[in-house]
Amino acid sequence: MSKLLEIGRSHTCGELRNDSLGTEVVLMGWVGAWRDLGGRRFIDLRDRYGVTQVTFGEELDAELSSRGKQLRSEWVIALRGVVEDRVANGGSVNANLPTGSLEVRVTELDVLSRAETPPFQISDDVDAREELRLKYRYLDLRRGPLQRNLIARHHFNQTVRNYLSDREFLELETPFLIRSTPEGARDYVVPSRVHQGTFFALPQSPQIFKQLFMVGGYDKYFQITRCFRDEDLRSDRQPEFTQVDMELSFATEERIMSLVEGLIRHTFQKVIEVDLGAKFERLTYAEAMRRFGKDAPDLRFGMELAELNDLVEDCDFSVFSKTVAGGGLVKALCLPGGAERSRKQTESLQEVTKPYGAKGLAWAKVTAEGWQGGISKFFNADLQGAIGGRLQASPGDLLLFVADKPSVTNAALGNLRLHLGDHLGLRQKGTFKAVWVTDFPMFDEVELEDGSSRWVACHHPFTAPQAEYRLSMESDPGSALAQAYDLVINGHEMGGGSIRIHETEVQERMFRVLGMPEEEQREKFGFLLDAFRFGPPPHGGLALGVDRLVMEMMGADSLRDVIAFPKTNRAQDLMIDAPGRIDKAQYEELALAPVSEPQEPTKL
Ligand code: AMO
Ligand code: AMP
Repeated sequence: MSKLLEIGRSHTCGELRNDSLGTEVVLMGWVGAWRDLGGRRFIDLRDRYGVTQVTFGEELDAELSSRGKQLRSEWVIALRGVVEDRVANGGSVNANLPTGSLEVRVTELDVLSRAETPPFQISDDVDAREELRLKYRYLDLRRGPLQRNLIARHHFNQTVRNYLSDREFLELETPFLIRSTPEGARDYVVPSRVHQGTFFALPQSPQIFKQLFMVGGYDKYFQITRCFRDEDLRSDRQPEFTQVDMELSFATEERIMSLVEGLIRHTFQKVIEVDLGAKFERLTYAEAMRRFGKDAPDLRFGMELAELNDLVEDCDFSVFSKTVAGGGLVKALCLPGGAERSRKQTESLQEVTKPYGAKGLAWAKVTAEGWQGGISKFFNADLQGAIGGRLQASPGDLLLFVADKPSVTNAALGNLRLHLGDHLGLRQKGTFKAVWVTDFPMFDEVELEDGSSRWVACHHPFTAPQAEYRLSMESDPGSALAQAYDLVINGHEMGGGSIRIHETEVQERMFRVLGMPEEEQREKFGFLLDAFRFGPPPHGGLALGVDRLVMEMMGADSLRDVIAFPKTNRAQDLMIDAPGRIDKAQYEELALAPVSEPQEPTKL
């Protein structure tokens, strides 16, 4: 065994400063970049704490120097050496490195491990394809940006634990092999060997269990836990992700929001030293949709949407008047200074709104003499004045309109607003704006293939209605509001929660609105309905998305950059090549039969 390994590191590669000049140290790490200058080899020795320059001099020790020259990228070495001043040695200070004023002259070297040439260079700015980096994830994990993200994630989790534990929250675990929890996505299922033909589901969240903790008298619970959802993936969704899950007894919406706001402020301060400023803003769901077209608005910039139905119902542009007559919604936003755009540039914005179903994107330029271009000719001076006034438009601005059914109008313009915000640099990394969105509807109406529709819970089926809708939620589900709230930061939903139903009667009413027959209620949730017969305290809670929060804090572009071993947007792990086939014997043991001959999932 290497003698140096036995002695152990005296310092990490990020630790040495000038007060160690002249002392002897033992360092270990990976060989990064190197260069030869004037008969000397200089190597960047790297570990997760930083980089220290180490040197070998022919004039000092020819044998050692020649061994130093054999070292290659990503070999792991241990060395003993003397800390010297770079400038005194004829070099210059590297101001980018905390250790940049010194170097370690090697007096003893052990090679601990050799490396083949890595498939991509391990450097902070890497240009290798992401698929390649995911296949060799352990090499990607050596890079500075990923290490910083994962270290921040550790700090986040630690900070949350301490904060909640200091406030008498208990960190309690809940099972992974359960029955389905209805959070709206598809379940990942696990076949039971012992009870053939039956399946466990992996939890989409610990929702029901945390409510049962409340029934069990554990009045403040939290857990940093994995959730599993088989849903369409996007850059801010992973099939398994982590929540800070919380539940409190004797809670009100205000008390929960205030606790979580304190926690979020504290973590931003501790993890990235950012002060989130004054009390978080509050918006009702209705106001968020009206002003921003989204229930998770980015409040770092204005460019708010304006509703125009009352102004355009009788206008000469038939697309608008017909939309109003047909129960649709006409809205617009004003792009300051946008009149400078060419017609082509303006019309290319349709590519942004099209994916949301918008049939067009009408526009008009604002000048001192009235509107120009696009749909201007359909609007007389009075109407131009009224619409311009509502949008607070000035000469030089560009107005952009969508007329469609409300969901399409809001989605198209809400996302166009974000696109323009990005384009104008109004959504800079490192700037943060948090807002609570409250008063969500209880139900969403979803259309079925046969043209009929049904109600689904907007949050989940355990969410309590606001007191005044307790009875009417059944006769008029569309109007009922919930005691539900979301935490939104920079346009991302970072957390969501609600006060729960704790009365069997209301829970049964909820299931009826959702169209769940009594038999199915008993089969799926009999245990919960039973529990509510034995003195459940009023309770509520919330869950935060850890991956999303750390991603936003660190200014990462994708959840994959803050998850150690993530899945692709096709729900695959390219490193371990999962999902994969199982043996025929396993099929038999589980009494499963493949519908067709099992196939390897296609590679990207
Ligand atoms: P909800 O479904 O809103 O609530 O989830 C809470 C938070 O988890 C994060 N999140 C995700 N992050 C990454 N990938 C995903 N696929 C994903 N899905 C959700 C979001 C979201 O705000 N049981 C309730 C909470 C409660 O009512 O207490 C729940 O799970 O940041
Ligand atoms: P058209 O009369 O179809 O040539 O459309 C005139 C302008 O109105 C074009 O700029 C279209 O993009 C726009 N437009 C058409 N339909 C809609 C709509 N539903 N909402 C907003 N603009 C539309």
